[in-house]
Amino acid sequence: MDESAFPSDIIERLRQARRVVALTGAGISAESGVPTFREAQTGLWAQYDPQELATPQAFRRNPKLVWDWYAWRRALVASVSPNPGHYALARIERHVSEFTLITQNVDSLHQKAGSRNVFELHGNISRVKCFEEDIVMDDWTEAESDTVPRCPRCGGYLRPDVVWFGEMLPPDVLRRAISAARAAEVFLTIGTSGIVQPAASLPLEAVENGALVIEINPVQTQLSSWMDFCLRGPSGIVLPALVSTVWPDSTRE
Ligand code: OAD
Repeated sequence: MDESAFPSDIIERLRQARRVVALTGAGISAESGVPTFREAQTGLWAQYDPQELATPQAFRRNPKLVWDWYAWRRALVASVSPNPGHYALARIERHVSEFTLITQNVDSLHQKAGSRNVFELHGNISRVKCFEEDIVMDDWTEAESDTVPRCPRCGGYLRPDVVWFGEMLPPDVLRRAISAARAAEVFLTIGTSGIVQPAASLPLEAVENGALVIEINPVQTQLSSWMDFCLRGPSGIVLPALVSTVWPDSTRE
């Protein structure tokens, strides 16, 4: 992709912006080999029932099934690497005085690519916490027998530190994400279907407060009609081209 691929409004507004926010979803990690959730055939929720795997009730019913499914995903994300889309976002952080990266992903790939200011709305799959006490465990080991590891403090089951359906998002992270979205001059929504709330309302907060809003996604989403611009393509191609166009020096970093 070359400079002519991007409208001049996008280039100028990004160059001048002091406050930029990006909201990412599963699509940004797709090119790293992490499955998305809602895509037909390949999406996780096309193959597995979230009510059986991603709710507190499911964990109460069958903790081992849920634990094993997350253990499989934890191993999967540990085995993959950031892709050019993640690295491009890490480069933006060096050019914009306040760049906030809000992610719905739990895979740590933004941090592995070098992004520092990352708000994890849905937790992180590499952490575990006590199901009873909600305390994150720094040190834990897999149970040897055919069961789920237990909390050394209270004996309750350990669970992944991710947000399940029906659970609250971490309130402080959500509050800071809303505030960043409202203050954004440019807001990028990348690789998300825009279906899950409250994440999906963040771009709308930005719209209401006058930000230039841009979607990067190969297909139309529920958010597309709110956007000033939709850049259609995989984020691993579009984002590096965009960043190199807006900040040509960044390619030499
Ligand atoms: P979805 O699976 O709903 O949407 C993924 C989006 O990524 C789709 O719009 C795809 O078109 C797009 N996509 C696919 N490949 C892409 C690529 N290479 N580049 C850019 N975009 C691409 O995933 P999310 O919107 O992230 O929540 O889903 C939101 C939440 O729903 C997840 O965080 C998860 C899930 O239930 C929890 O687990 C709490």
